[in-house]
Amino acid sequence: MSQRVVVIGAAGQVGVDLMDYLRGITPPGGSSKWSPAGTAANSASWTAVGITRAQLDLTVTDSIEGVLGGLRPDVVVNLAAYTAVDRAESEPATAQRINTVAVGELSRVCESLGAHFLTVSTDYVFDGRSAEPYDETALPHPQSVYGASKRDGELLCRPDDTIVRTSWVMGVRARNIAHIVAQRAASNEPVRFVTDQIGTPTMAADLALCVMALMERRPGGVVHVANTGVASWFDVASFVAMHEGRSADFVSPIVTADLDPQPAAARPAMSALAMRRWEELGYVATPHWHDAMSRLLEARRDA
Ligand SMILES: NC(=O)c1ccc[n+]([C@@H]2O[C@H](COP(=O)([O-])OP(=O)(O)OC[C@H]3O[C@@H](n4cnc5c(N)ncnc54)[C@H](OP(=O)(O)O)[C@@H]3O)[C@@H](O)[C@H]2O)c1
Repeated sequence: MSQRVVVIGAAGQVGVDLMDYLRGITPPGGSSKWSPAGTAANSASWTAVGITRAQLDLTVTDSIEGVLGGLRPDVVVNLAAYTAVDRAESEPATAQRINTVAVGELSRVCESLGAHFLTVSTDYVFDGRSAEPYDETALPHPQSVYGASKRDGELLCRPDDTIVRTSWVMGVRARNIAHIVAQRAASNEPVRFVTDQIGTPTMAADLALCVMALMERRPGGVVHVANTGVASWFDVASFVAMHEGRSADFVSPIVTADLDPQPAAARPAMSALAMRRWEELGYVATPHWHDAMSRLLEARRDA
């Protein structure tokens, strides 16, 4: 018998890819060669219900119990979030309501319904002062309202809940650095990107497949998930520009202090994630971000 999963945030950039996989479709940019367990994802074992803000507004915490209770889930995946990192500095109450209070309520309701709760968090829970990628044992110390709201949400989860921390997420069906640089490459308008913010780029389709594997496994606790390989935003932009036929000097290197205006939110200088638990769980290493980004750019071209 299939299990019922409710995906909250089903229209977001990770949500659309996860819903495709759950319906047995490889989303645009999804890998045809790689999978977390080395075998194809088994969509047949799931009945998926995608929820958007129209069906459940997470700022209205009181409505969570009624909506989820009516859907009788075995697993609830929360991909919805207040993700406007800079705007969160001037809207801390809204960020807290969606990223903290609602996550705590989702965890509580899942426990009362006997459902497993999986929620997605961020590399921005770290302060960026580490010289090495952060594994799951590293101590969070957020530097922004967004990072703090996500960390506070993690702290309201129960030990059995699974918290997937990811970073620098890019989907085919969303507007992100890949699309911006590809458009600028097409119109031959050079760009500038920072060399002093380092992270692990993550393609939404690959993350969605990892989430699907973890939904089945239900490991509980924090699991870091990203593509393999570490990069700066300059590296990411340069890769996109060269893939789109521009020369190496199309992207100019700058540092964060050069940005004008300065972004409202502080970002960690180094927030790359090490996937220690993913390895311990015996999964196959995720594809390198070069491979994943190439797939994204090809899919974007085909769209
Ligand atoms: N993007 C990144 O670089 C990144 C990095 C690290 C971690 N993450 C985390 O990864 C997860 C997925 O991110 P994503 O990139 O897929 O985000 P996204 O594309 O911004 O999607 C977020 C979704 O949340 C929904 N949402 C926002 N406010 C809501 C509310 N009040 N009630 C119900 N739904 C609401 C949005 O719906 P509307 O479209 O209707 O607003 C949207 O569909 C999030 O937890 C995010 O914090 C993302």
